[in-house]
Amino acid sequence: MAVDWKQLVMLPARVHPVVLLLSLLCASVFLYGFYNAFMHPLRKYPGPLLWRSFRIPYVISTQRGELHKRLKDFHAKYGTIVRVAPNELSYADSRAWKDIYANRPGHLPFQRNRTWFKKMHLDEPYSILGYDELSHAKQRRAFANSFSEKSLRDQAPVVERYVNLFMTQLEAPMAGRQWTAKTVNFEKWFNFLTFDLAGDLTFGQSFDCLKNGKAHFWVEITQDFGKGLAFIASVNQYPPIHKLLRYIIPKHIMQRSLDHRQMSFEKARERLALQVDRPDWVTPTLKYCAQKDQLTEKEWEINLLVIAFAGSETIASAMTAILRELMQHKGALYRLTQEIRGAFEKESDIKIASTNNLAYLNAVINEGLRLDPPVVIGIPRVVPEGGDTVCGQWVPGGTYVALNQYSANRQAYNFRSPNSFIPERFINPDPKVDNMALFQPFLVGRHSCIGMKLAISEMRVILAQLLWTFDIELADENDRWDWGEQDTYILWDKKPLNVIIRHAGKLRNK
Ligand code: HEM
Repeated sequence: MAVDWKQLVMLPARVHPVVLLLSLLCASVFLYGFYNAFMHPLRKYPGPLLWRSFRIPYVISTQRGELHKRLKDFHAKYGTIVRVAPNELSYADSRAWKDIYANRPGHLPFQRNRTWFKKMHLDEPYSILGYDELSHAKQRRAFANSFSEKSLRDQAPVVERYVNLFMTQLEAPMAGRQWTAKTVNFEKWFNFLTFDLAGDLTFGQSFDCLKNGKAHFWVEITQDFGKGLAFIASVNQYPPIHKLLRYIIPKHIMQRSLDHRQMSFEKARERLALQVDRPDWVTPTLKYCAQKDQLTEKEWEINLLVIAFAGSETIASAMTAILRELMQHKGALYRLTQEIRGAFEKESDIKIASTNNLAYLNAVINEGLRLDPPVVIGIPRVVPEGGDTVCGQWVPGGTYVALNQYSANRQAYNFRSPNSFIPERFINPDPKVDNMALFQPFLVGRHSCIGMKLAISEMRVILAQLLWTFDIELADENDRWDWGEQDTYILWDKKPLNVIIRHAGKLRNK
């Protein structure tokens, strides 16, 4: 058949411009995905095809609150290094701690990536959690003074006072009457305790959640904080469209976040105006600043907000997870209760200093942090320009890299029965089955958690007081599930933990 060249040449003229545009768009998207999957410098790293080709599955998963579950499945299927987006690798290998997060002689530092904790306004300073290394170093030096051994010793009575108030409120009569059994939602009450304490140590005033038995507005807003952060981090993945996309962030989420900031900044200014020495996270830093690096008022404001939140939500999350694990593992609960009751004659002996060396208590806390880490998804770091090696393999500059604790800690190649709560693994670690080098719930290196020692002390004393005083059990014995089933928006979207408490017959303050 003779070809009608005239007709063929005319064809494009007959195609509707919208169809043509859409076809071009589809072709570009296809080529973009094809390039990412098969020609990109990261092509040799394994991972699911769609995730290697486009960022969108990662973003959708984040928004659905299930990124941690996907990453866990991928590490089980593809191994210790998985390409989870065109420009991102996730690691479940303990060597990654040193390579990504520590200072390696002869290597450039890996900065935090810029999609997280981006400044909301140009004139806003970076916070200690920001990506700017110079600002970070200056702020870390200043705040390190508030977390030194001496500062922690000074703060111990404040922590103990709040734990006592927590216990007093738990023991308080109900409707004016003494009680023999009472149901308490510890997911809420741990929040009340840790936020009240953090409020005192940052803003010089408690949020009075314990006193009022309900969350202060500031604390309530922080419950959406993770979702807001996850949304902004997702939107920021798409420069330069992120400037437009910001407008589609649900107004109520944006407004709550702005209200929260405003309230925090006011509280920070009130604290600084106090001009008194207090055992808290401000006085030692102020003293240091008076002699060395000054922090501007705006730096104070943003950092006190960040520290108040980082110092409370994490501990509340860890405590809720640990108590749930204990409720669901009666053997561990029994052994821990025996250890605590055997160690103390009276409740008033239970202090930060006296709970240091309880082996099983420490093992329970560690196992809780391993299985249900409060920082579920790691803020990715960026491989510096020129590229570098991670876990012995070359990674090009600009790649995002992270060790995601939840997915790494729950792999059978890292821990024996990885999804089970077995505190004993921390008592006699067997390096053949448990890779303890992977267990770094507070991170390593210059960005590691500044509040680690305080967090551990606080958790020990809370758990010891609780189990010394009360016999506890799940309010509903069927309310048993794996902590990891919950959604996570950067932080865990925690479900209630309803527990029945009964006096164990021991007397407080005797
Ligand atoms: C169980 C409790 C806690 C856990 C598991 C935890 C975990 C972490 C982790 C993993 C990081 C590193 C984040 C990153 O850069 O990717 C971090 C940083 C940080 N944490 Fe904690 N944290 C806890 C409690 C606390 C407490 C009590 C404070 C006290 C104020 C605190 C303040 C901070 C601060 C300020 C940073 C940023 C440090 C820096 O970049 O220099 N955290 N934490």
